[in-house]
Amino acid sequence: MIQTVLVVGSGMMGSAIGVCAAAAGNHVIYYDNSADFPQKIKQRTDDLLSELLSYELIAASDVDPIKARLDTSANLRATASDADLIIEAIYENLEAKQKLFKELDGLADPSIPILSNTSGLRITDISSHMQHPERSLAAHFWLPAHLIPLVEIVIGDKSSPELAERIKEILIGWGKSPVIVKKDLPGQLANRILQAVIREAVNIVEIGLASPEDVDKAVQMGMALRFPVWGPLEHVDAVGFDICKSVQDTVLPEISDRKQASPLFAEMMATGCSGVKSGEGFYDWSKKDINALVKRRNDFIVFAIKQINQSHLSTERELKEE
Ligand SMILES: NC(=O)c1ccc[n+]([C@@H]2O[C@H](COP(=O)([O-])OP(=O)(O)OC[C@H]3O[C@@H](n4cnc5c(N)ncnc54)[C@H](O)[C@@H]3O)[C@@H](O)[C@H]2O)c1
Repeated sequence: MIQTVLVVGSGMMGSAIGVCAAAAGNHVIYYDNSADFPQKIKQRTDDLLSELLSYELIAASDVDPIKARLDTSANLRATASDADLIIEAIYENLEAKQKLFKELDGLADPSIPILSNTSGLRITDISSHMQHPERSLAAHFWLPAHLIPLVEIVIGDKSSPELAERIKEILIGWGKSPVIVKKDLPGQLANRILQAVIREAVNIVEIGLASPEDVDKAVQMGMALRFPVWGPLEHVDAVGFDICKSVQDTVLPEISDRKQASPLFAEMMATGCSGVKSGEGFYDWSKKDINALVKRRNDFIVFAIKQINQSHLSTERELKEE
């Protein structure tokens, strides 16, 4: 059983991953190489716990015990040798992650799993300087990590598949919904699907088929409402292969099969538009409030998770009664 989890890199993702581990009963030690991180992590974890409490995902009586399980350390050597599980969430930089994995490999007993939260790098490359790469895996938590259940566990060329199964069980115990990605390819699993959606969404705007608002509305008010309980492959089975084949034969030749990012991105960046951070992208962000949108997104995620959990519980109850 995992007891002490060391989280290396205590920024946006690391802080939330640590809170998930502590909420599941583990002792969490945060390590970060920035000087003021103990103050920052205290503020971040307080905010995350307040949000979980406001959504009634934890009880008021849980808050102090969770806080008591959150520690910081400025000594990587001591904490790495005490940890039962290590999760890395430092900057997305291959050399920095390789250096850290090599260092952790020398500090922690070979039986201790070392996971990377990388969103885009290969765990095979990150672990390439380790003596024991079999204990490395990617464990890609999705943002916001304290709310989204998905974690993609990616098996590198030298990772142990048995370890992936063990980590999956541990994450289920944290209330997560992990998936195992059997090959270490760019985009892991979910990002491959998301990028296919974004490629066509941008393409639809580029060819003048619809406005950005209507593209988003078509996804939000259509397929996205089905997806939490009706996956794309369940959809294919429900519709039938004959119909899906016919639709694909008609539609696929018409949609984007672009192999590079849309030129629209470079064109818009040349005019100073890069999305929310510049104030303008597909939308005029001087008229839209990103913080309010994030709040609505998180509200909906929590609402959906509660509904899904509720419907799983009633299905299980019905099955027991039969
Ligand atoms: N932000 C997202 O949406 C998102 C989603 C999923 C995964 N990820 C991945 O998670 C990782 C972290 O992303 P983030 O958004 O939390 O970044 P962040 O910038 O918020 O945090 C990174 C932290 O790592 C620390 N750090 C950097 N180098 C370090 C080192 N060598 N040792 C110890 N600490 C170090 C920094 O001081 C910082 O606090 C990246 O690999 C990123 O690709 C990000």
